[in-house]
Amino acid sequence: MTLLTAAETYLQDFHQRQVGVTSAAFAHLPASSRTGSWASSYDVLTSLVPAVDTPLSVLDLACGDGHLLGLLAARRQPRLHLLGVDMSQAELAAARATLPASVLLQQGRGQALDLPSASVDYLVSHMALMLMDDIEQVVREMRRVLRPGGQFAAIVGRTFLLGEVNDVFMRVFKPIASDALPPLRFGDRRTASEAGWRELLDASFADLASDDIDVPWMPMPAELWAALTDTYDIDRLDDDARQRLRSAFMDAVAPLQNGDGKIATGWGLRLVRARAA
Ligand SMILES: C[S@@+](CC[C@H](N)C(=O)[O-])C[C@H]1O[C@@H](n2cnc3c(N)ncnc32)[C@H](O)[C@@H]1O
Repeated sequence: MTLLTAAETYLQDFHQRQVGVTSAAFAHLPASSRTGSWASSYDVLTSLVPAVDTPLSVLDLACGDGHLLGLLAARRQPRLHLLGVDMSQAELAAARATLPASVLLQQGRGQALDLPSASVDYLVSHMALMLMDDIEQVVREMRRVLRPGGQFAAIVGRTFLLGEVNDVFMRVFKPIASDALPPLRFGDRRTASEAGWRELLDASFADLASDDIDVPWMPMPAELWAALTDTYDIDRLDDDARQRLRSAFMDAVAPLQNGDGKIATGWGLRLVRARAA
């Protein structure tokens, strides 16, 4: 593999230590938008892949531990060809352990896909494109491997936490981060807005559509904190800073607890779709 960027080196290390944390966080939580509801944010993407008898090839870009591919494989759709690419060997090993042998898995970077041009009908990606450096090159590669008319659909981050707890978290996180978080830039800011996606996709894709997807969740404070420790920026804090954050966060969220002790929050995501022109 080519030389990794600083962010990619960190992501490789994180996913070596924390295999499968994304599916652990999202696979069990229902997702909804103004127009529909799904069993999870992964199902938002699988619902866009048609159940047809004709041959269909689907690429999951940055497939992680293969949860999304597993949902598609469970359909037993005879002519559905499934392929996953990820740069993390540890995530791919977890995917290989659970997916049928017919699902092809490849270690690689989105910036340099080792796949033939115009070989993919559907390119899906869950919670990964906003992490990628040189997103313009990733978009060129996505367009190259998709056949003309092929579909692109991705779930990316929109906000961090849903509800009041997001502001509360940011209020306690920012001073600790400015003091103790080593600088590291993940991805391209354009992946955080619909206008940014339009700029990225306009030249080579058509029919861009974007939808807010909410993943509501009512955790106890300790459950919420445990999920937060699996996010990249909190993972990058040293133990002392993480402990300071934990204690400040637990104090700050206490007034937001409902009668049963839980907190109304969740994750704010975005669905981006487009057709390869
Ligand atoms: C947050 S995880 C999401 C994994 C999976 N899509 C899911 O939702 O369960 C991000 C994944 O993107 C992968 N990744 C990040 N940058 C990548 C790149 N440039 N090329 C390929 N994979 C990448 C990481 O290795 C990791 O598995």
